[in-house]
Amino acid sequence: MKKKYFYIETWGCQMNEEDSEKLSGMLKRIGYEKCEDKKNADIIIFNTCCVRENAELKVHGNLGILKKFKAENPDLIIAVCGCMMQQKGVAEEILKKFPHVDIIFGTHNSYKFPEYLNRVKQENKSIIEILDKEEGIVEGIPIDRESDVKAFVTIMYGCNNFCTYCIVPYVRGRERSRKPENIIDEIKKLVSEGYKEITLLGQNVNSFGKDLKPACSFSELLRSINEIDGLERVRFMTSHPKDLTDDVIAAIAECDKMCEQIHLPVQSGSSRILKNMNRHYTREAYLELVKRIKKKIPGAALSTDIIIGFPGETEEDFLETLSLVKEVEFDSAFTFIYSKRQGTPAHDMEEQVDDEVKHERFNRLVEVVNSCSIKRNKEYEGHMAEVLVEGLSKNDESKLMGRTRTGKLVNFAGSKDSIGKLVQVKIVKANSFSLIGEEI
Ligand code: 5AD
Ligand code: SF4
Repeated sequence: MKKKYFYIETWGCQMNEEDSEKLSGMLKRIGYEKCEDKKNADIIIFNTCCVRENAELKVHGNLGILKKFKAENPDLIIAVCGCMMQQKGVAEEILKKFPHVDIIFGTHNSYKFPEYLNRVKQENKSIIEILDKEEGIVEGIPIDRESDVKAFVTIMYGCNNFCTYCIVPYVRGRERSRKPENIIDEIKKLVSEGYKEITLLGQNVNSFGKDLKPACSFSELLRSINEIDGLERVRFMTSHPKDLTDDVIAAIAECDKMCEQIHLPVQSGSSRILKNMNRHYTREAYLELVKRIKKKIPGAALSTDIIIGFPGETEEDFLETLSLVKEVEFDSAFTFIYSKRQGTPAHDMEEQVDDEVKHERFNRLVEVVNSCSIKRNKEYEGHMAEVLVEGLSKNDESKLMGRTRTGKLVNFAGSKDSIGKLVQVKIVKANSFSLIGEEI
């Protein structure tokens, strides 16, 4: 029988990546194979994001191109899913504009994709199914993981924070934690398959377990994961600064498998803007927290997210962001230009910042962020680092690539036998976004 292929393209965050790994897992279970070129596909899936505007433009552009594909191959099935579909009216608008789309579903029902696939083949008409509200957590969906060395494990879904710029709570629903025993079982299984590193995922991992009965705190979860034999490294993201408590810092400091790396989105260095963002911490509280982390976890790498041009952001507010970045000396930062999201409070705030001003501030911020990254990376030069080898280097397949415990990307010459192993590497040169090493 002729092989059947699917092609999947994913925009947005790790959560969407994980959902796509589940869609792939389900399709492989029913006999499809993954392909890297959409021209060869029998099913094309776009897993969309709506956190910022440009992601939407990309989806529209891509769907337009598929009209030709469908004309050439009427049996092709086109599916669109993910966060963008959860926004009011968007799914209907997509189908109106792109009638060649066959299946549209949202973030709460992706586990039903095989069912939709069957239905569309039988009924021969487009399906839209978006659930307004989150259901309980569906366990046991097969996951087709990108890597054989490191895996992402979602520990909770949704977000309760309603930062005024952010669409996530509207499209991903309220916080729901997985049961600790399900998480531990999944990690044990991954370890038995040879995985060495786990990244725990959630929009706000620090509030893990508050909705469980009996409650289980995030630090308790970390400590029990640390007991798993054969597991080498654990990371997690994302932490909300208002919820990162001392017991979590202590767990990272005391547990040998917890990597010295924290992603701690600050969003702005101005307390006034943070208040308008509904972030529930001040500049001072953030800096205090960073001080505690640096004291308890020596050498910890800190990364962050920053938004430029939130409504009402003055030059003075922006300078406070720049000075905070310099004071913390982040290892890396994801920098974003504020993007108006329909349905969020900030969308209707007065004093939206001019595009030109946003871009000018953005460029100044990136310069400061990059100079901090290179400064932090230079501290590795001449030192040994433990690297978990993930595979061949992206740009030079004669080299290997892996990451330090602090999450720094290292490229170095070494034997392919090291893939999947921990090796000691001497760092000889630092760039802004990676390190160059020599295996010893
Ligand atoms: N505009 C710009 N950036 C945003 N983010 C979330 N919403 C917006 C928005 N409307 C950024 C935040 C968040 C990251 C995942 O995306 O910095 O931490
Ligand atoms: Fe969005 Fe804030 Fe929730 Fe993060 S914590 S997902 S920025 S609402």
